[in-house]
Amino acid sequence: MIGTGYVGLVTGTCLAAKGHQVVCVDVDSEKVERINRGDPPIHEPGLSELLRRCIGDRLRATTDFRNAISESDISLVAVGTPTDGDGIDLRHVKEVAREAGRVLSDKPAYHSVFVKSTVVPGTTDEVLGPLLERYSGKTAGDDFGLGVNPEFLREGDAIRDFMEPDRIVMGGIDENSLSELDRIYEVFEGVPKIRTNNRTAEMIKYASNALLATLISYSNEMANLCSALGGIDVIDVMGGVHLDRRLSPILEDGRRMTPGVVSYLEAGCGFGGSCLPKDVKALVAHGEEAGSPMRLLDAVLAINREQPRELLRLLEKHFSSLHDVRVAVLGLAFKPGTDDVRNSPAIPVLKELVARRADVRAYDPLVGKVPWEPIDDGVLYLDELQDVIQDAEAIVIVTGWEEFKRLPHLLKGMNPSPLVIDGRRMLDKSRLGRYEGIGFSTDCGN
Ligand code: UGA
Repeated sequence: MIGTGYVGLVTGTCLAAKGHQVVCVDVDSEKVERINRGDPPIHEPGLSELLRRCIGDRLRATTDFRNAISESDISLVAVGTPTDGDGIDLRHVKEVAREAGRVLSDKPAYHSVFVKSTVVPGTTDEVLGPLLERYSGKTAGDDFGLGVNPEFLREGDAIRDFMEPDRIVMGGIDENSLSELDRIYEVFEGVPKIRTNNRTAEMIKYASNALLATLISYSNEMANLCSALGGIDVIDVMGGVHLDRRLSPILEDGRRMTPGVVSYLEAGCGFGGSCLPKDVKALVAHGEEAGSPMRLLDAVLAINREQPRELLRLLEKHFSSLHDVRVAVLGLAFKPGTDDVRNSPAIPVLKELVARRADVRAYDPLVGKVPWEPIDDGVLYLDELQDVIQDAEAIVIVTGWEEFKRLPHLLKGMNPSPLVIDGRRMLDKSRLGRYEGIGFSTDCGN
């Protein structure tokens, strides 16, 4: 397993737990040491336990790239593919291809390389394959296998998503490569396996994430219209939409199924994380390059860029200036259940509040603080929900943490009662005195 970031470490640990012999490689020796101590460098429910069970037995970590590849049959590449401007930055993937190529040149046995990192369609065949061939002096297909095996792990649910997959997408340049990949996944019986070419496998990953992002921006656009029109609450609207039997099928006994996708059809203050924003941007840039502009996805991104500002708009309805207004920001993580703040809507919200010189206090049950300039300077990060709401004039909910459902109770008796701005529509507005939320407007009799 090359790369011990989120995907690499979860995949490596789970594959070891499934009975494979796994060696995780990373250039970061500190991370490697932590992994070998059974102490995961990332927060993911269940990972610590699983890692401690496997480490030193079927799982080990190393910085020795050459040794790891020489002694294994298959390499899975899970290094980061950050955004480069709007497109994808393949620096790390290319570096791995060169290094792996060098090792393969000295390795007599057949070895397969599979890309787990999210890369735009064509990358494995057109960038990775040629680099591996150049640096190994060998031929893809004849001397080594090459394929794509995208991951579908959600942060916070990654172990379950890996152990109980809904699909396994396997791309390969030939039957041999696909059979090699099958060796990894034969332990997953009964799971649909899609065997296809590399470009299709790469595209399935993007199409999946782009759909989720589209559903979220669609819901947010509906919400903003409801709030502009007044007299309509998006919660009631989406509740009506969800009951379409194509979204919530009626079972034989009359009960309704609520598929997970329905939760992406809810209004909020925008999507974030390390995947959705980056992947949609990369696909848009790739489409542009291919002469096929992605007009819908362009709009999905534009809506998402603006959505956190909706919280500021609601706030400014009540305060002519935010200067010195004490505002409590609840939630820093991009979604509940994780400590990840990458592309979190909390970031633009904090920045805007700091720019308006509000007296900003912030709290998240898992994230200590957002350690980046200029947010670091103007925000007081507190460790308790009670402390952050103390004397607040306004409370802005950015992340839908369960704990924030206690707010109506905690605010009872607080005088004057702060304005609550609900960015996730998670509270019952009838239980709060002064309430604003995404997707409805008090201006029209609500
Ligand atoms: C996402 C995809 O869901 C995974 O299938 C994919 O493997 C992963 O990206 C990836 O490419 O690695 P993740 O970034 O962990 O996973 O986030 P999600 O749980 O999908 O949440 C993304 C955004 O959607 C968040 O901002 C969250 O607030 C929002 N969301 C999430 C909802 O609106 N409703 C939900 O039920 C879940």
